[in-house]
Amino acid sequence: MCGIIGYVGPQDAGKVVISGLKRLEYRGYDSAGIALQNVQQPELLVVRTAGKVTELEIELDARQPLFSTGTAIGHTRWATHGEPTRENAHPHSSSSGNIVVAHNGIIDNYLVIKQLLQGQGIEFTSETDTEVIAHLIEHYYEGELSEAVGRALQQLEGTYGLMVMSALHPNMLVTARNGSPIVVGICDGETVIASDVSAVVSHTKQVIYLDDGDLLTTTSDGVSITSLRNLPVARDAIEIDWDIEAIEKGGFEHFMRKEIHEQPTALQNTLRGRLDFSSSSTKLSGMQMGPTKLADIDRIMVAACGTSLYAGMVGKHLFEDFTGIPTDILHAAEFRDHNPIVQRGTCMLAISQSGETADTLGAVRECLRKGAQVLGICNVVGSTIAREAGKGVYLHAGPEIGVASTKAFTSQVAVLAMMAILLGRSRRLSADSGQRMIDELSRLPELAQAVLDQEDEIAGIAAKYARAEHAFFLGRGYMYPAALEGALKLKELSYIHAEGYHAAELKHGPIALLTEQVPVIVIAPDSSGKSRTLANIQECKARKAPVIAIVTEGERDINGLVDDVISIPHCEEFIAAIPAVIAEQLFAYHIARERGCEIDQPRNLAKAVTVE
Ligand code: M6R
Repeated sequence: MCGIIGYVGPQDAGKVVISGLKRLEYRGYDSAGIALQNVQQPELLVVRTAGKVTELEIELDARQPLFSTGTAIGHTRWATHGEPTRENAHPHSSSSGNIVVAHNGIIDNYLVIKQLLQGQGIEFTSETDTEVIAHLIEHYYEGELSEAVGRALQQLEGTYGLMVMSALHPNMLVTARNGSPIVVGICDGETVIASDVSAVVSHTKQVIYLDDGDLLTTTSDGVSITSLRNLPVARDAIEIDWDIEAIEKGGFEHFMRKEIHEQPTALQNTLRGRLDFSSSSTKLSGMQMGPTKLADIDRIMVAACGTSLYAGMVGKHLFEDFTGIPTDILHAAEFRDHNPIVQRGTCMLAISQSGETADTLGAVRECLRKGAQVLGICNVVGSTIAREAGKGVYLHAGPEIGVASTKAFTSQVAVLAMMAILLGRSRRLSADSGQRMIDELSRLPELAQAVLDQEDEIAGIAAKYARAEHAFFLGRGYMYPAALEGALKLKELSYIHAEGYHAAELKHGPIALLTEQVPVIVIAPDSSGKSRTLANIQECKARKAPVIAIVTEGERDINGLVDDVISIPHCEEFIAAIPAVIAEQLFAYHIARERGCEIDQPRNLAKAVTVE
């Protein structure tokens, strides 16, 4: 959460940083700020605003002409400590104003340090944990900026990706990482550093990811990396495999709608080269597991959050149906809040689009500590979870900028299905069944497109229910996670209170809430439990609730029973969550649009949740 960017080079640093902040805004968008170096005089200009980056830009435009600069840092915030006000916006300054800091993460021991500094007469001007860093660096400063930063950081407990600039060191940035990502763009004669590649890719595709404990010093001569204790460190550069167009709206009104429509291509990319028709299996080389290692797995644990957790729940059905391996699903935070049993033979799947979610990362570390096999299922290449897991499967779905996750979910389910086939073929899945499953997987792009082709009809249905204040989503079996995901999409985008329930659970309490004002979206495509779900529809109708059914095209058993129908194409049950969820994404998108909501950046949210 929070986006940070820094620039050293010949361009107008203010402009580079503002345009980078716009790219990073999906990481947090409740306040923003920038610090610029004046090359003529030893002073810094710090401009901060509550609200979005456009407001910061307006304020900066009014003031920046006084400053000629080639060095700047910027920040866009998702508040943790203190409300989203101008005073709490980053960068934060030391008492003299000579040192400024922009920070992503949380300093756990900030209160102790704050009291210590206050005892020395230092006055604080914000409620943030970050402000202590600026004062502490000033406290240790004896002429060398990076040394002072290193000494200050050794006092801190918690997580940070941070950037420091000093009026006394023109054209220099000091950057450090512990738990919050930092990526360094290596360009000719300039350096762009940011909390993710989306702010860097317009400058260069050659990047270095800092590791925890790294301290990067950037000047107009280039970059050098050391440890906090000033020992040299070497990090390899890697090449980003996508272009700037991937993070442009490309003619769509919102990133979310673009990303919904990218799903046929994203799924194609997820499947590319991984379906092995000759062995009726799949090839997932990133798992780094031969037949013996695969056969050793006797239990799977999934750790994930939000939408990724719901994809994992589809995975549980896949693994148990096709491999016979017992599979547990855990909210990632439970790996530390509780003490799950991790044994030899346990394989942990960490599912995370961003690869940076703090709770999922914590679960990865906990499982590695306990000696389990850990596989990352991530979208962002080089992300922390992908790197710390060391093996796994990338989604290759392309960057996801809309805060609501869409194409990541469908690609995650496709990856889990491929894993289930691979594991199943090393066990009880016959070649015929394996063949049938990979044939079906190869249809995914076409199935996704068939749902997208119905967008106008789905938008029409969405318009009918756009004024609802409560909604239920029901499903069973593979469609239960789809119900949870449908409810999550609707609530986060439209602020309609939506609940996802197992279809059989409704009558155990929640049915008390049904009235003619509460629509129920029932996901009941062809599947083993369909007839029971259709009976649940009767129960809703008997309470006068309007019912929207997501069913397989040509379904006759709902004729006259429901108020609206969304059809998905014929497919096997094990992948039906993919077209069903695409229909739900369009439904939620169009309801939010009708209600005039901020679709790409819903209130209170951020794309990557890097705090626990
Ligand atoms: O990056 P991750 O997949 O780890 O993110 C997990 C959740 O924060 C994320 O899926 C969240 O629930 C989305 N806003 C849902 O649309």
